[in-house]
Amino acid sequence: MSTDTTPTTTRAHAREASTPGSEWWRSAVIYQIYPRSFADASGDGIGDLAGVTERLPSLAALGVDAVWLSPFFRSPQKDAGYDVADYCDVDPIFGTLADFDALRDRAHELGLRVIVDLVPNHSSSEHPWFQEALAAGPGSPERDRYMFRDGKGEHGELPPNNWPSVFGGAAWTRVTEANGEPGQWYLHIFDSSQPDFNWKNPVVWEEFRRILRFWLDRGVDGFRVDVAHGLMKKEGLPDIADAAGSDNIADALMSPEDVPYWAQPAVHEVYRDWHQVLAQYEGDRVLCAEAWVEPLSKAALWVRSDEMHQAFNFSYLSTPWNAAKLRAVIDESIDAFTGVGAPSTWVLSNHDVVRHASRYGLPEHTAGPNAGIGPNSPDKPDAALGLRRARAATALMLSLPGSAYLYQGEELGLPEVIELDDHVREDPTFHRTGGEAYGRDGCRVPIPWEADAPAFGFNDTGSSWLPQPEVFGEYARDRQEGVEGSTLELYRSALDIRARRELGVGSVEWLDGYGEEVVAYRNGGLTIIANLGSTPVELPAGDVLLASNAIDGRAVPADTTVWIA
Ligand code: GLC
Repeated sequence: MSTDTTPTTTRAHAREASTPGSEWWRSAVIYQIYPRSFADASGDGIGDLAGVTERLPSLAALGVDAVWLSPFFRSPQKDAGYDVADYCDVDPIFGTLADFDALRDRAHELGLRVIVDLVPNHSSSEHPWFQEALAAGPGSPERDRYMFRDGKGEHGELPPNNWPSVFGGAAWTRVTEANGEPGQWYLHIFDSSQPDFNWKNPVVWEEFRRILRFWLDRGVDGFRVDVAHGLMKKEGLPDIADAAGSDNIADALMSPEDVPYWAQPAVHEVYRDWHQVLAQYEGDRVLCAEAWVEPLSKAALWVRSDEMHQAFNFSYLSTPWNAAKLRAVIDESIDAFTGVGAPSTWVLSNHDVVRHASRYGLPEHTAGPNAGIGPNSPDKPDAALGLRRARAATALMLSLPGSAYLYQGEELGLPEVIELDDHVREDPTFHRTGGEAYGRDGCRVPIPWEADAPAFGFNDTGSSWLPQPEVFGEYARDRQEGVEGSTLELYRSALDIRARRELGVGSVEWLDGYGEEVVAYRNGGLTIIANLGSTPVELPAGDVLLASNAIDGRAVPADTTVWIA
């Protein structure tokens, strides 16, 4: 793989605890690395930790504060690593623990914090505990670490309740007991290869404290906590009223109704416990909740002062390109999160949703985080419109106070890959719905670095676990570096101004008089104007520090955000 020659900016971060209220994560921009698809040093077609380490200087040069790595732990990869078989080791496809240490050291040298992904709701079915549970049989302490139940019906042939899996089909699978007979059922809110832990069992609590300490001792700066709203299930595991499966992972994850496996009050005890574990370590270590919970006032419960520190703002991610709705969600976010003493967070893309450069090119009715579009989807994105709006949306997001998350490749303006053949798709959503939902492979295609290199610089061999489309060449980093007006340079300037003006610790002061279709406010001495309408808006006096798209004279055109000093 070619060596990255990007000039590096090194910003030494104080690693001691800061005064309460000024912790680094309150205003950090955190870049999500999806290790399978970031950079592949070994050349086997799947990204790895050594590849990440080589490419870290370009992230420091981009100006982010931290990286969050999606799971790289030992795993049979049935759900791209969110099915963990050993929480304290690196899967050989990604490298070794020594590779992780090298990555951590390089990141810290470059002034980048490192956040790892913790998956506490379920393990892989290949985890030794689950294998022991299968062998030990009904009623054993080994089974009690998971959610085993007898089935209903005369011979236990029916699942214990009607819960659907988020990925399609039922959330229960029946096992064959040691005597060769069909036996108990186990719960898996996700794929059948992802059995849910029993969080009523103290042994599970102790094990996760151990896992947290293992990574904290190894110098990680925090954890992104997978499915943080799912660990505790309602007593008695009652049926849900409307158990129809959803073909959209985001909808299935974020259900506004009372679902007996989401957002149960007892889950907060777990995070109070973890808060104490982290507090024993120096530096400001962070817990970030992936809790698909609405409304925001409820999501804010995860970041009360004795629980986690941040929660993803999925309400913001799900808001369509509509000025009134954006103003409302910004107000609601700041109220909800600052109401409990936490920073608000902002996010537009991740490895579970259609990339925002494509999402914003879809008609509004599909513009939510619809998980997956493919060759036969009824609506296809308008690529140019999507990118234009995505750039404006990012410029708006990065001007907001609080912490923001970026997903690898969005700084290149990458679109969702729609034309993937069925046989290359790996997302269990696609397979468990019999292809009805395309799933998430389209946002997980290995990213382009150099337009003219094999696999666009993802590796040296040209191999890639998901095929990269030809058009990725146009988005390659080397085509955008130093090019005025490129998406990469837009991100870099926005991050630079954001840091210098300390927008992350600022506040939103709304400006009236710009009309319904405009989001206008002041933060950090800047005026921010996002024009979501079709009529150009007159530019106020001042210097334009940033414009998401070329501006014409003294007007802000449609689908454009400007920052004015
Ligand atoms: C989270 C992850 C997703 C994964 C699921 C099950 O939602 O972001 O990728 O499939 O949890 O672990």
